[in-house]
Order: sequence, then C-alpha cells, then structure tokens
Amino acid sequence: AVPPPFSVPLTVPEAAVPVRRTATTDYYDMTIKHAAAEILPGVSTSIMGYDGRFPGPTIRAEAGRRVVVRQTNAMMHETVVHLHGGLVPPGQDGHPADAIAPGAQRQYVYDNRQPSATLWYHDHSHHMEAEMVFRGLAGFYLVKDPRERGLGLPSGRYDVPLMLRDARFDEQGQFLFEMDDFRYRNTLLVNGRPQPYMRVDARKYRLRLLNGSNERYFTLRLGEGEGQGEGDAMTVIASDGGLLPAPLTATSVMLSPAERVDVVVDFSRYRPGTQVVLHNTDGTSEETTNVMRFDVGHRVPDFSRVPERLGRAADLGEAIVTRDVNMNLDLTIGQFVIDGKTFDMDRVDTRIKRGETEIWRVHNRDVRPSVPHNFHVHGTHFQVLDRNGQPVTGHEAGRKDTVAVPIGGDVRIKVRFDRYLGRYLYHCHLLDHSSMGMMAQAEVIG
Ligand code: C2O
Ligand code: CU
Repeated sequence: AVPPPFSVPLTVPEAAVPVRRTATTDYYDMTIKHAAAEILPGVSTSIMGYDGRFPGPTIRAEAGRRVVVRQTNAMMHETVVHLHGGLVPPGQDGHPADAIAPGAQRQYVYDNRQPSATLWYHDHSHHMEAEMVFRGLAGFYLVKDPRERGLGLPSGRYDVPLMLRDARFDEQGQFLFEMDDFRYRNTLLVNGRPQPYMRVDARKYRLRLLNGSNERYFTLRLGEGEGQGEGDAMTVIASDGGLLPAPLTATSVMLSPAERVDVVVDFSRYRPGTQVVLHNTDGTSEETTNVMRFDVGHRVPDFSRVPERLGRAADLGEAIVTRDVNMNLDLTIGQFVIDGKTFDMDRVDTRIKRGETEIWRVHNRDVRPSVPHNFHVHGTHFQVLDRNGQPVTGHEAGRKDTVAVPIGGDVRIKVRFDRYLGRYLYHCHLLDHSSMGMMAQAEVIG
C-alpha cells in the first residue's frame, strides 16, 4: 500500500485559528481525539490527533504575546501536552504526572517570552509518549519575534515546516506500534505524507526541518540524482532554540529525534524542471534514503534575503559546577536508565540554582549492545560545548534543547535555568527509551 517515492504531493499542516484574541492573548481550543487520516493513498488510517489532524495544526505565536490552549481530551485514556523547546513554568510544561483525564479539559498558558524559534508540541504521557506520538500526537508551534520580522527572511508560503518521521504500517495500512521496533519503521513521512513531492518556485525558501521520529536519525542532503557525492549547499539559519548569530553553509545536516534546523534553500540556482531530492544518507534502503523531492518551477520575484547577522549568540558564561549524567540500557533489569534508575515521578536527580551555569557531561555508556541515545532538557536552552572532546559546529553551536550522544561517547553541555523554580524533566528523546524509563528530573532552586 506504500506508494512509489515522490508520487504524493506534500501538504502543509493547517494553521490553528484562535477562537478569541484580546490585546495580550490568543486563545485556542483543541480536541485530542481518535480520527482517521489518509496517509497512504486511498487508505484510511486510524490516528490520534490534535483536532483529529495528522500532524496537528500549526500554532503561530508572537514573542511576548500569550497563547492559551484549551485542550479537551476526547480519548479513552490520559494524555499530557508538552511544548518542546518552550520556556514555560513547570506547571505548564506537560509533566507526565499532570495528565488530562479522559473527557477532561486543561488550559495550557504559554507566555512566549523567547526569541523566534521552531518548536513543537507533543504528547508526554507516562510510559505512553512513544506510542501516542507515533500515532500522531505532534504538531508545530512557531514563535516569531519583531527582530526576525525585520530580517527579510523568506516568509508566508515560502516558510515551510517539514515534520520528518518514520512509521510502520500493517497489511491494512494501519499503524503498527511495538515498543522499540525501530528496524521495521521504514516508511518515511513528511507532514504525514509518504515520501512526497513539493512544487517550488525558483526562489528562496525557508525549510523548518523537524525530526519527529521516535528513534530514527536523519542525515539530510539535498541534490539531484541518487544523492552520491557532496550535497548542494543549504544556508543554516536556526537551531532548536532560534536563529543562529550568523548564517552558515552546510552540505548536510544531522538530526536526532526532536532536533530542529531551519535552512534557507535557493531553488533559483536550478533550471526550471529540475527535481531536487532531500536524501537521508543514514538510510539503508531506497525507502529510507528518499525523504522527499522538490520539483523546481519558474523563476518568480524574490525580495527575501539572508542577512549577515541573525540572532543572538548562545553564551551561558562561566560554569561553577560539573556533573555527570550516565545513560544506558541496564541489561540485568532490561530497562533504559539514567544514573542507574528508571523514571519515577518523585525522583529528583539534581538541584541546580537558578541563574547558575553548570557543565553537564552526558555519557552514553552503551557500547555492547550499541544503542544510540540523545539528550533533551525541559525548561531551558543549553549550549553544546563538545562531543567526544571535539567542538561542535554548524547548527549544533546554536541554542539547543536536544543533542545526540554517540554510542560509547559523551557530550558536554552548559546548562542554566534562568526563569522558573521547580522540577523539569531531562531524558533521552528516543521516545521508546524515555517511555521505558530513560528520564530523570532536575529541580531548579532559588
Ligand atoms: Cu519533546 Cu520531554 O520532550
Ligand atoms: Cu536513548
């Protein structure tokens, strides 16, 4: 039932529409429910969706303007909504202990006191987030600030969010979810369509790439033909936490689950009629290497630009404390653990003073069996210092909330919580791992 690559048109998730707007606040109503979506052509697949959509509607927030989302849970089991990358107080963060019961409602208040960035919202239910995100509970949340408006970057229909992920279907075209069965999730979806194509004008586009997979890594390259050799240049402008200080050129970008990168691609360098493929060089088969295709059309006027200076630098200052965080699969108990323990609601692994910078050395202790992990911290954006002792480059040098931790290796990050007191999760964002307990908590103290 999976169609040949590039035979289905890309769709862009619809925009969420506020039910009410005041001088300070945009109000949204969403219903979390079971629904059907046409993912594979002619097949109706059961999904879980925000407003029944796959992916959920895109919320467009204005920095400094409040967003209030009233979520109604119309499913038969609990759910929790987390705004990934949002700098929100613990009470609005979508903690697994803070679930919306079946039939109940919950208001989430987001102040958007943060710069322009590509965020996303997704389920964070206790032990269930892997399955519920897999079945569709994820959507984009885009923050824009006045500074970005003045930059002249491609905008409107030339600013395209792309949620990349994999999935596994059964013979009937229904989702098949089994915990940690990532080897079988070999159908790539972009915005919920299998290996789609997109007609583009021959001009600049901003592409907001999100890895929405549970466990798959993407190494993305753009090019004509089979994707051999060096990729075509992309201008990287933003990482998880927002715009980079200056644009940089890359021929490939790596995204572990939940990471985002915004790139500007100038399609005017191709002749009209050119087919440019977004390849995943991490893929192992035709199915998993061909992500989507851009079909270049005519040249159109393009007044957008990528200026030399974009956002603020990520500099968290001097660190006072260094801590180690250890991630591994504990074979004696068959569980994914952080510092030897699986998640429980009351664990507090570390207390960190508000406003004080720490260095966290995050280790992936899994060599045999070799299991990749990554590391996500709620409630703040961190700065990546190095990986296996080598300084990171590219989008990884910008503000981040998620970073890949290599097998048997380590990553050092600088962490500072500036805002709110209370408990924030940190965990592996390979969602099957976090669902199986690879999650811990930091308490921010005054
Ligand atoms: Cu994107 Cu704790 O999650
Ligand atoms: Cu992991």
